[in-house]
Amino acid sequence: MLRSISLLLLIIIASIGAVHAVDSTSTTREQTLSIIKPDAVAGNHIGEIIALFEKNGLRIDALSMKQLTKQQAEDFYAVHRDRPFYKGLVDFMISGPVVILVLDGENAIAKNREIMGATDPMKAEKGTIRSNFAKSMGENAVHGSDSKEAAKTEIQFFFKPDQVFIR
Ligand code: CMP
Repeated sequence: MLRSISLLLLIIIASIGAVHAVDSTSTTREQTLSIIKPDAVAGNHIGEIIALFEKNGLRIDALSMKQLTKQQAEDFYAVHRDRPFYKGLVDFMISGPVVILVLDGENAIAKNREIMGATDPMKAEKGTIRSNFAKSMGENAVHGSDSKEAAKTEIQFFFKPDQVFIR
């Protein structure tokens, strides 16, 4: 009797372990690219923005401060080439240095977009980066990848694999 109870306990403990093992493989940890734009850098908000990422559970895998060239800004935003705001966007993105980050965490792409707030700061939720620091749709403090595909392309655009540290 005692042996069969012990056996039963062992089976229960093993099956709990198995469930946990499945959970740990179904993680949605992912990476995304963030740019702290020239307006937020000029406004001295780099630290406050990074603190928001970290407080919300995102980790920094890579970080670089750069002055983008016109060519880089044009290529990075090439999907918007035909939009009326494209030239203004490129001029703004090269108006001063930017800070480029690779962020990672559970659902990092969606989480980063939540932390950033809506593209138009007038529509951004209170407490988001754009609500706190952005002035307009054009000068909106941060950029964040909008899909897994975009995140992969955008990370490769700025960083070599050995410059990204998954911790
Ligand atoms: P971002 O997330 O960097 O992606 C594209 C950028 O284009 C966006 O943020 C805005 O800065 C800019 N943008 C999008 N729509 C407009 C618009 N209607 N007017 C000016 N800039 C825009």
